[in-house]
This record gives sequence, C-alpha cells and structure tokens, in this order.
Amino acid sequence: MEESAAAPDRGHSIVYAPRIQDLLAREEKVFRIDATTVGVSHCDLIADVVAARPVRSAERSVYKPAAGADIPHDSATRTIRALGKDVMEGIRTPPPPARGLNGPWPYAATSYLRQWLFASDPLPVSLLSKRGITRSPALSRIVDRAVTVWPEPGGAGHGRTALAEQIRSASDARERGQAIAMYRRATATLCDGVAALTGNALWLMGPAGRKQLMGRAGRKQLMDSAGREHDVAAADLTAVLWETLRLLPPAWMLYRTGGDAYAGLHPEIRREDNVALFPLLMHRHPDYWSEPMDFRPERWAGVPDPEKTPAFMPFGFDGARCWAKHLVVPLAERLLTVALDNRLAVRVPNQETHVPLRSLLSVRFDARSGA
Ligand code: HEM
Repeated sequence: MEESAAAPDRGHSIVYAPRIQDLLAREEKVFRIDATTVGVSHCDLIADVVAARPVRSAERSVYKPAAGADIPHDSATRTIRALGKDVMEGIRTPPPPARGLNGPWPYAATSYLRQWLFASDPLPVSLLSKRGITRSPALSRIVDRAVTVWPEPGGAGHGRTALAEQIRSASDARERGQAIAMYRRATATLCDGVAALTGNALWLMGPAGRKQLMGRAGRKQLMDSAGREHDVAAADLTAVLWETLRLLPPAWMLYRTGGDAYAGLHPEIRREDNVALFPLLMHRHPDYWSEPMDFRPERWAGVPDPEKTPAFMPFGFDGARCWAKHLVVPLAERLLTVALDNRLAVRVPNQETHVPLRSLLSVRFDARSGA
C-alpha cells in the first residue's frame, strides 16, 4: 500500500500509510472500523479488554503453536531465559563495525543486530532468521530441514547461543521442531522490534537532538566505570526511548478476535466483533497527555517505572504483558549509543519520512555513519 497523507511531526513531514492516517484523524476513543472490527483507544476500555480473557494460543505471535502443538509453558520460559542470556552477552560484546548500520533502516539495523547477537551460531541455524530466507516459505522449509539434522558430529556447544542450544538439546522431534520455530520467531521479533524502536528514536531526535546526545553517548562510553556522568547520559538515552515508545510505538496495534468476553464491555462491541486496540492513538490523546504531539524525553525524567504511567502501554497491559520488555530497552539503548558514537546521519529525501502499514510501526530512512 502506498502512502499519501502527510502530518507534521517535529518540523519534518511524516507520511503515514493512509489507513494509519485515517486512524490518527479519529477523535472518538471507541469507533467502528468496519462491519466486524471495533477500534479502541480508551485507556480503561483497553485495560478491560486485555483483562477480559487470556490471549488465545493462535493469537500469540512468538508462542503460537508450532510443529502441530501448543508451546508448553516451561519451554516458553526456557526460550525467554535463553534469549535474555544471549542479549545480555551481546550487550557486553563489542559491536560489529558501524558501517553495518549504513543503508535503509530499519533493515540495516535488523541485520546488524542479528550479526551482533547470533553470528556465533553455525550454519544452518544462523540462517533461520535471515531476512532473505524468512521471506521465502520454500527456502525456510529447506533451512528448517537442514537444522533438523544439525549439529554435525563434533560440533558440541562451542560458540553457540543459548537459543541455538535449545534446538541442540531438544529431546524429541516435536520439541526440536518447536525450538526451531521459536529460534526464528524470537530472533526476528527481537531484531525487528529493536531496529524499529531505535530507528524511530533516531528520527524523532532529529539532527539537533542527535548532535546534542552524540557527545553524551561518547562520554558514557569513556566513563563507563566512573559513576555519575555515566548515569546522567544513560538516563537521557533511556528517556529518549520511552518517549519514542509513546509517540511511535513499534507495537502500535493489538488485535483480539471477537467473542463473549468483549460483548458487554461497551455498547459498540458486539459478540461477533473483533477488537483492535491502539496504543498509538492512546499515547497521543490530549485527554491523557500534555502537549501530546511534542517529542519531550524530559517528561520521563525521574519517572521510576514508566509502565505505571496511565494510558501508556508500549509493552501491553497486565494480563498479556511482553515477556521480553526488560531486554528490548537496554538493547535499543546500546544500539542507539553505537549509532550516536559513530555519528550516524539520517537521510530523508525531501524531508518526508514514510511509515508504511506493517505490524511493526517503523519510520523508513537511509543512514550513513561518520557524517
Ligand atoms: C520492540 C520489541 C517488542 C515490543 C514493542 C513488544 C511489545 C509487546 C506488546 C505490546 C505485547 C502485548 C500484546 C497483546 O496484548 O496483544 C507483547 C506481548 C508479548 N511479547 Fe513482546 N514486544 C517486543 C519484543 C518481544 C520479544 C523479542 C519477545 C520474545 C522473544 C516477546 C514476547 C512477548 C510475549 C511472550 C508476549 C505475551 C503475549 C502472550 O500473552 O502470549 N516480545 N509484546
């Protein structure tokens, strides 16, 4: 779908896909989108919908069924623990050369993160989430088959991520099939989500904001072991990311298929209606936020737990809260630091940036380091 409508954001033009633009123009907090879908950006109603029933297994993204069965809870938690270990390990490891950040964002950043965190995995595991492969079902099937017969003899344990280890140590064919699917989904969700968040932050900061923080990001690295100044700079970047999660949240829409649980929560919602929840709209509503369209990282200064802020749900509400939220912000902060330290320049033709209609909301631009 091509974009057509422009809206001003921080002196640039951001051009949203027409369907997103239509939503942004809505003033009501509960509205009908089509014959079977109701949109909601009302804070209390969103909380009620999320709490009304657990997410069904088929509605999940990372943990939807794989290899013909639901993902057991204990293997889901093992996967998150493994992912956490790999992310923390990656954050401590020197990043790949910054030229890997050059090119079209968010794709350049997605590949860069995959290279950074998962390049130690042997072929064919490292191919599982490679973009060129995930876009082709035929190639994905070939790689899945190759991973099913991995590892090669003598390759035990060396240099491989905890997530890949889940595949190697699976006890039977079904567990292995599920571990393969979860490797693909977890690495893709992580790299795509963090790339989108970091790209949105770089764009929202604008040239002046990036310049202002470039020195501080560098100082943070220089003074890593020296206390206060490090904390000040880190707090700045964290606030930039929370404000980005407010204005351009990668998870901009959450979807629930209809049924009894939602009918009765609001007169507009009938049993046969699906419900689309819009953090993107709620995060910009003037009833909930002062100067909602301004990018003001300062609003998060001194806020100990941003997710307790009313009408803010970049990682979901209680009942279906993101399991990886504690990994996403630190990794995005690390990537943002690398981008700022390497003076990554954001190039926007005609000062117009596009946000296409995708499940993850992300600004598109071209980047060059060392500018
Ligand atoms: C920028 C990255 C991410 C963002 C913005 C994000 C955001 C969210 C949001 C908004 C929800 C609530 C969904 C709903 O209520 O429908 C959610 C749930 C969840 N997320 Fe994330 N997420 C990110 C990355 C990840 C990653 C990397 C993983 C794991 C590999 C993950 C695992 C989950 C799980 C397991 C749930 C709970 C859904 C359920 O109850 O089954 N997320 N996330």
